[in-house]
Amino acid sequence: MRIAVIPGDGIGKDVTAEAVKVLGAVCDVSGRSLDLEMLPWSADHYLATGVTLPPDGYDMLRDSFDAVLVGALGDPRVPDNRHARDILLGTRFELDLYVNYRPVKLLNDALCPLKNRGCKDVDFVVFRENTEGVYVSVGGRFKAGTVDEIAIQEEINTFKGVDRIIRHAFAFAKAQGLGKVCMADKSNAMQQGHALWQRVFKQVSSEYPEIAASHMYIDALAMFLVKDPGQFEVVVTNNLFGDIVTDIGGALQGGLGMAASGNIHPGRTSLFEPVHGSAPPLAGRNIANPMGAVLSSALMLETLGWTEEARRIEAAVTAAVDAGETTSDIGGSRGTTQVGDWLAREVRS
Ligand code: NAD
Ligand code: IPM
Ligand code: MN
Repeated sequence: MRIAVIPGDGIGKDVTAEAVKVLGAVCDVSGRSLDLEMLPWSADHYLATGVTLPPDGYDMLRDSFDAVLVGALGDPRVPDNRHARDILLGTRFELDLYVNYRPVKLLNDALCPLKNRGCKDVDFVVFRENTEGVYVSVGGRFKAGTVDEIAIQEEINTFKGVDRIIRHAFAFAKAQGLGKVCMADKSNAMQQGHALWQRVFKQVSSEYPEIAASHMYIDALAMFLVKDPGQFEVVVTNNLFGDIVTDIGGALQGGLGMAASGNIHPGRTSLFEPVHGSAPPLAGRNIANPMGAVLSSALMLETLGWTEEARRIEAAVTAAVDAGETTSDIGGSRGTTQVGDWLAREVRS
């Protein structure tokens, strides 16, 4: 298996080093090997060379690698976020990674930020549409910088895009033996684009009579995720809403540092990354939580069919949380590298 590794910026570098360490440990145990190629694409690289990613970058990822592992992208020295747009969003678009799979699973009751809730209440997945919505950057600015400025950023919803993510959510629920899918939109205010979500959801849900289909407006979903997360099994929503509610999901898991994600086109080269960003104030200080990155590497292995190895990594993370071998964001006193070392040892044991 060939894996492209893009540590990126800030704590992306810190946490990716630990994910790579843990992948090495799981390979040692299983006797299988991964060929990891480190790619320097980042703000540093962009500022030094003027290149965000090479002209053949997307083709190379798609054709030469089985998966891509990313840390995070974002740096205050690149205020327009140009490099992150090319490297992260560009790869989502160009490799057509239409499923943003973000599991939200609390590993230990002690990490739950909600009163009287625990692991039994926080165990669901979010499917975020990942190739359209407001992220496509269709629009423009007129008279920019003046008091007459007009700024337009259109939201794109296509039948193809909406249909395939909603179908994916139902197919996942069915395959996992889950009984509920909730779709969230803002069709009460966005009566054009989100009418399409309504129509498709109605159609697809009718093909799955055994699955209870429900709808919430996105504002109510945000509220219920905090008030009563136990009611959710599978949530499906658009690109922007999915971005926002999965940060809530991160908080429900104890913090953003715990949350993992896969940017997936089933059957094709896909990209895995923690949900968090580059957290510049934490970068290089050995304090970032590497568990979201490590769990993202487990999602990657699972998607590649290395199920046993993925389970081994997940079990090690749960064991570390149970043992208090964690960084300070979730209450521990260990550094990023110590947590990575502990996880690697646990995986080997
Ligand atoms: P962020 O996720 O980087 O950090 C927000 C806060 O969450 C941090 O200040 C910290 O308190 C906490 N946090 C996040 N990850 C943590 C970890 N691993 N361990 C401990 N605490 C953690 O979000 P932000 O500050 O809004 O964005 C910073 C930069 O990252 C921006 O440039 C943004 O565009 C970028 N970003 C990139 C990605 C990505 O590459 N996938 C995702 C989100 C944000
Ligand atoms: C995420 C991030 C990205 C997004 C940013 C960095 C563009 O927040 O992956 O959640 O909004 O998709
Ligand atoms: Mn986000």
